[in-house]
Amino acid sequence: MTAGERPGLADATRGRLLYGGDYNPEQWPEETWHEDVRLMKAAGVNSVTLGVFSWSTLEPEPGAREFGPLDTLMDLMHANGIGVVLATPTASPPPWMGRLHPDTLPVTEDGRTEWWGGRQHFSHSSATYRRYAAAITEDLAARYGGHPALTMWHINNEYCTYDHGDEAAAAFRRWLRERYRTLDALNEAWGTAFWSQGYDTWDGILPPRLPHYLRNPGQVLDFRRFTSDMLLECYTAERDIVRRHTPHIPVTSNFMPLWFGQDAWRWAEEEDVVSVDLYPDPRDPLGAQHGALVQDMTRSQARGPWMLMEQAAGPVNWRGVNHPKPRGMNRLWSLQAVARGADAVCYFQWRQSRQGAEKFHSGMVSHAGEDGRTYQEVKRLGADLARIAPEVTGRHITAGVAVLHDWHAWWAGAHDGRLSSRVEYPDVLRAWHRALWQAHLTTDFAHPEHDLTPYPVVVVPQLYALTDASIDNLLAYVRQGGTLVCGFLTGVADEDDRVRPGGMDARLRELFGIRTLHEWWPLEAEETAACEGFRGTLWSEEIEPADPDHTIRYKGGELDGMPAVLRKGRAWYVSTLPEPEALRDLLARIAEGAGVRPVLDGLPEHVEAVRRGEVLFVLNHGREPVTVEVPGTHHDLLTDTAVTDRLTLGRYEVAVLRP
Ligand code: GLA
Repeated sequence: MTAGERPGLADATRGRLLYGGDYNPEQWPEETWHEDVRLMKAAGVNSVTLGVFSWSTLEPEPGAREFGPLDTLMDLMHANGIGVVLATPTASPPPWMGRLHPDTLPVTEDGRTEWWGGRQHFSHSSATYRRYAAAITEDLAARYGGHPALTMWHINNEYCTYDHGDEAAAAFRRWLRERYRTLDALNEAWGTAFWSQGYDTWDGILPPRLPHYLRNPGQVLDFRRFTSDMLLECYTAERDIVRRHTPHIPVTSNFMPLWFGQDAWRWAEEEDVVSVDLYPDPRDPLGAQHGALVQDMTRSQARGPWMLMEQAAGPVNWRGVNHPKPRGMNRLWSLQAVARGADAVCYFQWRQSRQGAEKFHSGMVSHAGEDGRTYQEVKRLGADLARIAPEVTGRHITAGVAVLHDWHAWWAGAHDGRLSSRVEYPDVLRAWHRALWQAHLTTDFAHPEHDLTPYPVVVVPQLYALTDASIDNLLAYVRQGGTLVCGFLTGVADEDDRVRPGGMDARLRELFGIRTLHEWWPLEAEETAACEGFRGTLWSEEIEPADPDHTIRYKGGELDGMPAVLRKGRAWYVSTLPEPEALRDLLARIAEGAGVRPVLDGLPEHVEAVRRGEVLFVLNHGREPVTVEVPGTHHDLLTDTAVTDRLTLGRYEVAVLRP
C-alpha cells in the first residue's frame, strides 16, 4: 500500500489464501475456545470473523461496554497466528433498543412493525439506531484498531432491510428533493398524470404502502434506489469511523448474491474488499453454475480478487428441505471459488450451534465434532489451499465475454404491471450465464456504462431500462469493433421507466435492423415458439425487419416467417429465450466468430476449466470419473504429480495445473 491508496485484500492475505469463517464464541464456554483453536490450527484456519451478532453481549444495556471476552479472544487468536476480521455488531440490535426506542424498528408496507426476537430489525432511517451504531463502532475501533490480530473490518452483515415507516417517509422525501429539486420534475418523472396521482406538496409523498391496486412504477423504482442508498449510508457511516482509526485496515461488508435490494455495483465502489455469501443448493443440478455466476459477478465488482465470506460446509437450514453436501462437494465448490478469483474461502460458521435459530445449519465443526466427516473434509481443504496459495493468490482472470447487469434495470422491469409475471430477470440472467458457462467461455460481468472495450463479446441478457449514456456506450462499443448480443426486453424504457417511442430505443432498433416492433407475445409455461433450428421459450416478438444481414425466423403460429434472431454487422438481437442447448450453441458460435475460444477444447459435460494467472483449474462437477485432454506438460499442485496431455478426475475431483 502506498500513500493515498486504500488498503485491499492483499493487505489481509499477505500471499496466503484466507481460510476460516464466522466465529461466535459467545455461544460457548471458555474451555471450548481453546479446543476451537486447536482444531482451527489443525485445519489450517488463518482467519476468523468475530462479533457479527454480538451487540447485546458487548452492550448489554444502553451505553454499557463489556469488552472483556472480546479482549481475551483477540489475544487468543493473535497468540495462535489467526487473523481477525472484526465485525461491527450492528445487524442485530439488542432487545433493549427496540423496547426503549420503538423508532428503531422497521415497518412493512402494510404497516406492521418488525420486532426484536429475530435479527436485522433496524430501520436504516432511524437517527436513534444510527447514533447507537456509530457509538459502538467508535468504541470497537478505538479499542481494537491497534490490536495485532486485526486484519479487516466487516461492517454489519448482509444489509437487506426495508422500511416504509414515518421516519423513512421523511428520509424518502429528502432523498427525492435532492434528486428532483422541484415537484414538477418529480410529477413528470413518475408520470403522476396517470390515475390522478399529481402531488401538490412534498409532504404528500409516501414510501410505497399497501395500495388498492397496482402501484406507481416510478415511486416504486425510486423507493428501491432510496433503500439501497440509505443502507449504503449506514455502511459508509460506520466505515468512515473505522477508517479514521485504522486507515491501513481494509473494510468490507458481505453481499448476498444477486440481492434485489442493493445496487452492488455502487456499493462495491465504497468497499476496500468485495465479499459475498454463497449457498448453492447441493441438490441443484446447476448449483455449480449458480456458484460460477456469483463468483464471476463478485470478481467483476471487485475488479480482481474477492472474498468468499460465507458458505456452508454442509446443509443450510432455510430451504424447504436442506441437504448435506455429498463427499467432496465442499472441496470442489471451494476450489471453484478460488479458480474464479477468491483469495479467501470462509464459512458461516466455525462451530455448529447447539441453540438458537440456526442450530441445524452446518458449521466447519458439526455436531459430530472432530471425527465427523465435515471437519475432516474442512481439514483436508485447509491443506489444499495452503498448497496452491503461492501460485494463485492475487492472480487475475482474463475473460473474453462480458455479461451486462444493472440493478436499476432489474428494479424497473420487475413492476407488477408487466406483460408476463413468468419473466423473472434473475432467471433470464442465469439462463444466459449458463449458456456461456456450458460453452466453457470465461465471463466477467459489467455495468452498461463501464468501459466494454476489453471484451471482444458483450452480451445483454435483458436490460429493460437503459440510460442514454448506456445506449451511447453500447453503440460506441459496436462501432469500435465489439460484438454485441442482446436479449428480449432490452432498451424498452429510459431511466425513469418511461417507455421509449417504438417500444425499444430507436438507435438500438437501427443497430439490429428492426423497422417496427409491433407486439410482444409472452409465452405460457408449457408453450414454446418454434424457430428455424431451435425452440424459443418464455417470450416472442412480432418484429418487422428493416435491413438485417441475417435472420433466424419463427416457424408456424402467429409469428410465422418473422425474425426471431436478427444480426446486423456485429450486433445481434434475440427476441425469445432459446432452449438451453440452443442458446449455448448460438453464443459459442458468435464468440468463435469474434475470436473468443473456450478455455479448453473438447471438455466433457460437467467439467469446468478456468485459467487464473498461469494456473489452470479443472473441476469435475459430475459423479462419474472423466478423462480430460490438457495438451502439454503440467504439474498438479494438489497431488504434486506431473500431468501430460491427459488427466483423469474422479467424482467431484479437481486438478490445479501449473505449466
Ligand atoms: C447468512 C448470514 C449468516 C447465516 C447464514 C446462514 O449468510 O450472514 O449469519 O445466517 O446466512 O446460511
